[in-house]
Amino acid sequence: MIASKHFLESSNSSLCKHQKINNIVEFIIGNTTYSYYLNDRIKNGRYGTTVYKGQNENNQQIVAIKNIKKIVDDTEQNVNNTEISIMKQLINEPNIIKFYGDYDNPINKLIVMECATSDLFTKIENTIQEKNKGLNITECIKMLKQVLIGIDILHEKKIVHLDIKPENILVMSDGTYKIADFGLSKMFNDNGIVFLEESCGSPLYAAPELFNNLKKYNAYSLDMWSIGIMLYTARCCIIPKFTKYNIKSLIMFLSNKQDKQDKKFNTILKSIINYKPTKRATAKKILEYLEEDN
Ligand SMILES: Nc1ncnc2c1ncn2[C@@H]1O[C@H](COP(=O)(O)OP(=O)(O)OP(=O)(O)O)[C@@H](O)[C@H]1O
Ligand SMILES: [Mg+2]
Repeated sequence: MIASKHFLESSNSSLCKHQKINNIVEFIIGNTTYSYYLNDRIKNGRYGTTVYKGQNENNQQIVAIKNIKKIVDDTEQNVNNTEISIMKQLINEPNIIKFYGDYDNPINKLIVMECATSDLFTKIENTIQEKNKGLNITECIKMLKQVLIGIDILHEKKIVHLDIKPENILVMSDGTYKIADFGLSKMFNDNGIVFLEESCGSPLYAAPELFNNLKKYNAYSLDMWSIGIMLYTARCCIIPKFTKYNIKSLIMFLSNKQDKQDKKFNTILKSIINYKPTKRATAKKILEYLEEDN
C-alpha cells in the first residue's frame, strides 16, 4: 500500500501531508492540496521500490510516483533523504528528471516527478527486437551528449551518481534523455577531487579499479566508466566484460568501416573506457570534443 490513511508530517520543511483513499494520493503542502490518481505500476525496482504512473486530479498532469518502502535502518533512510535533496538541487536541469515533491510517512517515502515514456534499457531492447541491432551511432551520440550534460552538472556540484546504467536513463516523449534514480548517489563538500571508500552500483557497469582492493576511488571517474559501458551496450547490445588485455580489440571490433561517425564514436569510447582512472576522459572534455566536431 502506498500510504496510511492518517496525515503525517513530511521530512520537508514546508507543512506537507499525505493520505491515500481509493487510489487517490493526496498531498497537502502549505495551504494547497495536490491530489493524484494512482494509475498503473510502471516498474518494480530493487529493495521494495515501485514506480507508478499518477495523474493530478485538478490539471490532469501525468506524473511518476516512486514509492520507496522504508527499511527501518538509519543508513537506508539516509540514502533516501540524499536522493531527494539531490533531486531538489537539479529541478531546472534539462537532462535530469524533474522533481515535483516528496511525501513521507513511517512506512513509505514517495517522490513525485515528471513521467518519462520509457527507459534506455527498454529502448535498446525494442530496437533489438525491431532491427536485430542496437541504437545507431547518431542516436548513441545524442544519448551520450545529453547524459554527459547531466553528469557534468552533477560533477560540478560535487555530486556523483554511482549507478549509471540504461535502466536509470529515462526517455521522454520528445526523445530527450534524462538521468534518474539518485538512490545511490553521494554529495561531497570538499573542494578537490572527491574520493569514495566503498564500492556500489551495478557490478556490470562498475569500473575495474573497484575490483582492485584500492582504498580510495576517484568518484567522478567511476561515473565515467559506467557511461562508457552503457554507450557500448547501447550500440552493440551486449554488456562488455573488459579486461586490461581486451579493451583495444573490443573497441576496434566495433567498427572497421572508419567513416567519420564511426571514428568519432570509437575515439570517444576509447577515451572513456580507459583502465586507468586518471586517464579517463571527464564529461566536460568529451562535451568539448563533441562541440568542436560540430
Ligand atoms: N520518472 C519516471 N518516469 C517513468 N518511469 C520511471 C520514472 N522513474 C523510474 N521509472 C522506471 O522505474 C524503474 C525503477 O526506478 P528507479 O530506478 O528510480 O528505482 P530503483 O528501485 O532505485 O531501481 P533500481 O534499484 O532497480 O535501479 C526505472 O528503471 C524506470 O524504468
Ligand atoms: Mg534504478
